[in-house]
Amino acid sequence: MGITLKLATSLDGRIATASGESRWITGPAAREQTHRLRATHHAVVIGIETALADDPELTVRLPGYDGRQPARVVLDSRQRLPANSRLAVTARDIPTFVIASGEADPALVAAGVHVLTLPGPDGGRPDLGTAVQALAQEGLSSLFVEGGGQVAASFLRAGLVRAVEWFRAPILLGDEGRPAVGSLAVAALAAAPHFRRVEVNELGPDLWERYARV
Ligand SMILES: NC(=O)c1ccc[n+]([C@@H]2O[C@H](COP(=O)([O-])OP(=O)(O)OC[C@H]3O[C@@H](n4cnc5c(N)ncnc54)[C@H](OP(=O)(O)O)[C@@H]3O)[C@@H](O)[C@H]2O)c1
Repeated sequence: MGITLKLATSLDGRIATASGESRWITGPAAREQTHRLRATHHAVVIGIETALADDPELTVRLPGYDGRQPARVVLDSRQRLPANSRLAVTARDIPTFVIASGEADPALVAAGVHVLTLPGPDGGRPDLGTAVQALAQEGLSSLFVEGGGQVAASFLRAGLVRAVEWFRAPILLGDEGRPAVGSLAVAALAAAPHFRRVEVNELGPDLWERYARV
């Protein structure tokens, strides 16, 4: 199971302004590299708040690229993904999964979305480890997690992140910007997830830092 966390942030680790504006913090070269990384994974994973804020397609869009498209996965326990979202309307062309906790929404199923129903504790969000296992059973064992901050924090808290691909733009968004990583409830430095930097590259004005889990 290879899970990579991708972060595209300001210098101070923010992924969006307070109002949710996040396009585009990093420049074209960083975005192109993100697309290359997507192509090397079985699936791209996001949280429903990112799906609602950005209505992304999460496809590999590179000049001349005609290879496989990764599947798309939305962590969306209450199935708030609109049937007319870009992800749902392209679901018949590119496999698209919603990880939910209730019965599958007929509108999403009719659009061709695969709704994986995984009962969560007390009817809440499915356990992340269980969701990852369910995706592996669908043949999706290498995951590229693209956020947002809550989803990034959940993968880190569960100890599931093997590598971090961090794209850092030379702007500052301040305390009111949305954090790249939500609450980790770290009480001591020794308990924090630790990574080893394995590479740094310049991509136009941005930095691309690559980290491996220690
Ligand atoms: N700069 C960038 O590259 C970048 C990338 C991504 C996002 N963003 C920005 O980030 C913002 C959204 O981030 P966000 O942190 O608010 O939300 P998010 O992480 O995208 O989505 C969080 C939601 O996902 C659902 N979820 C289901 N299972 C979960 C789990 N195990 N852990 C966490 N969440 C789970 C929850 O909704 P339910 O309880 O309803 O299931 C939760 O409220 C947007 O403004 C977006 O534009 C920026």
